[in-house]
Amino acid sequence: MSDLYPVPEDFAAQANVTSADYARDYAESIRDPDAFWGRIAQRLDWMKPPTRVRDVSFDRQNFQIRWFADGELNVSVNCLDRHLAERGDKTALIFEPDGPDSEAKHISYRELHARVCRLGNALRSLGIGKGDRVTIYLPMIVEAAVAMLACARIGAIHTVVFGGFSANSIADRVRDSGAKLIITADEGLRGSKKVPLKANVDAALKLPGTTTVETVLVVRHTGGAVDMQMPRDRWYDAVVDSQPDTCEPERMNAEDPLFILYTSGSTGKPKGVLHTTGGYLLFAAYTHWAVFDIKDDDIYWCTADVGWVTGHSYIVYGPLANGATSLMFEGVPSYPDASRFWQVVDKHQVSIFYTAPTAIRALMREGEEPVRKTSRKSLRLLGSVGEPINPEAWRWYYDVVGEGRCPIVDTWWQTENGGILISPLPGAWATKPGSATKPFFGVQPAIVDAAGNILEGECEGNLVIMDSWPGQMRTVYGDDQRFFDTYFAAYPGMYFTGDGARRDADGYYWITGRVDDVINVSGHRIGTAEVESALVLHPKVAEAAVVGFPHDIKGQGIYAYVTLVAGEVESDELLKELVAHVRKEIGPIASPDVLQWAPGLPKTRSGKIMRRILRKIAENAPDQLGDTSTLADPSVVDALLDNRRGA
Ligand code: WTA
Repeated sequence: MSDLYPVPEDFAAQANVTSADYARDYAESIRDPDAFWGRIAQRLDWMKPPTRVRDVSFDRQNFQIRWFADGELNVSVNCLDRHLAERGDKTALIFEPDGPDSEAKHISYRELHARVCRLGNALRSLGIGKGDRVTIYLPMIVEAAVAMLACARIGAIHTVVFGGFSANSIADRVRDSGAKLIITADEGLRGSKKVPLKANVDAALKLPGTTTVETVLVVRHTGGAVDMQMPRDRWYDAVVDSQPDTCEPERMNAEDPLFILYTSGSTGKPKGVLHTTGGYLLFAAYTHWAVFDIKDDDIYWCTADVGWVTGHSYIVYGPLANGATSLMFEGVPSYPDASRFWQVVDKHQVSIFYTAPTAIRALMREGEEPVRKTSRKSLRLLGSVGEPINPEAWRWYYDVVGEGRCPIVDTWWQTENGGILISPLPGAWATKPGSATKPFFGVQPAIVDAAGNILEGECEGNLVIMDSWPGQMRTVYGDDQRFFDTYFAAYPGMYFTGDGARRDADGYYWITGRVDDVINVSGHRIGTAEVESALVLHPKVAEAAVVGFPHDIKGQGIYAYVTLVAGEVESDELLKELVAHVRKEIGPIASPDVLQWAPGLPKTRSGKIMRRILRKIAENAPDQLGDTSTLADPSVVDALLDNRRGA
């Protein structure tokens, strides 16, 4: 490949990890992971340093994943207390509000520590302790980070629910986790639009199976009117502000749970991905330091939402464990206009910027002018996450946003991984547009064929990881069997990612996207099965099948085929009603982009829906339908193609 972007010399000269470091340390991390990770673990402050490093087996017989199993520590102490002596007055979080005319806030490590302690005390006073589950349903405001860290301080397990999810989705997560308390706000604000967070919580708590929730703490954010149901609902400030600003941290075992985060899979309801304390924090912190080349004077901005894993690892835990300054942005890239990101970069002198390809593509469509009219001189490194970045968007990011000066780290990882697994280390090797390049320390990717044979050299197939890394998820909350079956049953002894990948002649990895029934819409994972179950809940729907299709901005869009119950009539009103119904059931991110009526679905004689055919129809590639002769009724395909043309 000739399309190689070498490391700029001045960048390499100051990099946290050079190519020589990588060659030496990566080899050691694979040869002797105990020695390697034992040494790296000294980056954390342990109340009791671990004497064991890894107890891992991916085999069905003695399956276990444990790291630093006899170590003890507290995550909030690592993110806050240990910085107070040297960096107490350093800004830990910059809050940039939705609207540019509202005031930004700078929260020092000392202030953040005090706020976390006050909430920790308040939670304890409300009967929350070690092991209890707390749901966090907040906008991108400082309280979101405070809430996560306060849970960590007292050993409660947080489960953050993205503010774009509906009441039903909140209820599903509360039910599965058995949460005792919810922290929410009156309303969220995104691109000047209000999001009725408290009202969504109220609606969720009317649904069955949510009676575990005893208390709802409500942050006053917009000041909008909300119903307070006493004694369940309490204003956050009334309960928290009067608390002492020190709070004894809970001693946690390295393998005690830190959080549950729900994510979509190919079947059933979203699973509760469980991450634990020691390994997760170490991996988030170490990857953040190495991949983002973080220095003490950097202003670092990850545009994700704390409702996703990227927000957990790379807005809150990784940056704060490293004593960095992390910017939290409440708004959206397009409000008030397409310059917003770059204006925020200039305003706060952001040096490291991390976003998703979907945002880049959306901004690219607006042309160069909104970018060019800003300075961006402070930027030195750019990052991408969440979905494959197409080379065209990569080059625009590099040339227009970074003016050819900033390396790009295209970071591949998953909720299940806790942190980045494949990515450039920006000072260590040249990048190629569209490639996540090479594995992080301790990570052993491999590519297998459908039968599980490991492929060598240049190849394409399914991406697996051969051995554990500290940030790996430990289980699906409450369902060890589902954990094993989802990730370790397909290819014995290996972790199966659900992604396809190609390896080129230079050993660079190119992620090709999901190979299962998960679609990636604007970097958000959505299970086709979830959207289908939402659709069939509607009384007029008999059957539904959902596939992904290529979408210019979102990467993938959602394409739904719907069969109505006999006697119901297809109409534009019903179509709108069904889209609204999915929004209500799951949330706006799951709204179908295209909904097509399907008098019948292509099924095998045993009744299995042939999604391959539905994908080709959605892609508008009728010439690539392949063999349809095994269908129970091949004529349904013609009917679907006719309907598509009519659509
Ligand atoms: C996809 C987000 C290509 C992939 C951190 C993965 C990517 C899923 C990249 C996980 C990337 C994430 N290049 N694909 N740099 N990053 N993905 O759990 O399909 O929300 O399996 O975690 O996003 O999404 P999740």
